[in-house]
Amino acid sequence: MLADKDRIFTNLYGFQPWNLKSAQARGDWDNTKDLMKRGQDAIIEEIKASGLRGRGGAGFPTGLKWSFMPKEPRPDRPSFLVINADESEPGSCKDREIIRHDPHKLIEGALIAGFAMRARAAYIYIRGEFIREAETLFAAVQEAYDAGLLGKNAAKSGYDFDVFVHRGAGAYICGEETAMIESLEGKKGQPRLKPPFPAGAGLYGCPTTVNNVESIAVVPTILRRGAPWFASFGRENNKGTKLFQISGHVNKPCVVEEEMGITFRELIDTHCGGIRGGWDNLLAVIPGGSSVPLVPAAEIMDAPMDFDGLKAVGSGLGTAAAIVMDKSTDVVQAISRISYFYKHESCGQCTPCREGTGWMWRVMERLRTGDADISEIDTLFDVTKQVEGHTICALGDAAAWPIQGLIKHFRPEIERRIRENGGALEAAE
Ligand SMILES: Cc1cc2nc3c(=O)[nH]c(=O)nc-3n(C[C@H](O)[C@H](O)[C@H](O)COP(=O)(O)O)c2cc1C
Ligand code: SF4
Repeated sequence: MLADKDRIFTNLYGFQPWNLKSAQARGDWDNTKDLMKRGQDAIIEEIKASGLRGRGGAGFPTGLKWSFMPKEPRPDRPSFLVINADESEPGSCKDREIIRHDPHKLIEGALIAGFAMRARAAYIYIRGEFIREAETLFAAVQEAYDAGLLGKNAAKSGYDFDVFVHRGAGAYICGEETAMIESLEGKKGQPRLKPPFPAGAGLYGCPTTVNNVESIAVVPTILRRGAPWFASFGRENNKGTKLFQISGHVNKPCVVEEEMGITFRELIDTHCGGIRGGWDNLLAVIPGGSSVPLVPAAEIMDAPMDFDGLKAVGSGLGTAAAIVMDKSTDVVQAISRISYFYKHESCGQCTPCREGTGWMWRVMERLRTGDADISEIDTLFDVTKQVEGHTICALGDAAAWPIQGLIKHFRPEIERRIRENGGALEAAE
């Protein structure tokens, strides 16, 4: 179990106030200018050495991503940092905890990360439904301006840096980085074709890096405690501490900071009071937010909760939001509900996603009721393969993978329902 002294988010549960005075007492904004004095390249190298990988789902190495930004931005083309606080992935609920209880970690991180990538400003794009969180964030940013920590000569570093908070309107697709950029520009939130990548042409056509809230909020602590400290947690290629979010059929659902690579069993026994009804009652887990394939009980129990550990069991770490399902769950209904979500959130730009998500959901609904033919299971699987990898953004994959996981692991259950229903198509003949 991660020791309290090694926690980055020391006010995750809001036992203390979020305000600047309390944040400073917890160590935030402590000599920020000295951290910045190390220089832009040294900061990027330190983040690279820490092994930090993006916490927004895809796990791209953070330091490497920053190094793609221009070293000498043109005066007429400033660079920008965009912080992704859209957090709309079902099951994910970590960024909101950072924002409402520890916002200064994020704001200080924005200044340091923005400085490292030579950005002129950061835009924090916050999910529309996070009304109270947005209020806290606006107030915390104002506190930072009033204390001279942002704006001209931010934190007396000699660097000018602004932070703008922008509220979204509640669309899942605006969490995709290029849709977020479109939305910030005042347009409909639809993903852009890549290339060009945002580091070449992003917000207002200028060099831009998009990072998740957690990726940015951990930066000041990594610099203060050093890359070797952060890299001492977890396994090769899967370093650091991480916020896990556990919901569903556990005795005590929670958000908790733990070491990467902790096994699922230890995570649940240590922090969630075990599985409801005991470990024998576990059916399956969706370990990374709704976009990744589910993993049956026997395979997840001793899996390390990190990028490689979950890849090895055919799933992914995603946002590290584990949705736990015990044996009372109608697993076909659960995945069908997720399919409905993706159908609802598809932005409609590409045909395989626009048409495919609706088609897949309708078939899923018939599999749920057993009103289908057994051969349709394979047809559905085929269609998920035609959607996967054939769309502008990863929402298509996100819609395909949960269904693939269901068919792979629970085909007998789907067939049982069809048989018990007598097979609708056979009956119609
Ligand atoms: C449909 C879709 C929704 C996404 N939603 C989020 C989100 O809510 N928050 C987030 O940080 N990343 C989200 N992402 C990932 C972002 O596109 C991007 O990879 C991430 O913000 C990069 O930050 P990181 O490198 O710090 O992880 C989403 C991606 C897709 C395809
Ligand atoms: S995959 Fe779906 S959500 Fe993504 S751009 Fe295409 S239609 Fe829009």
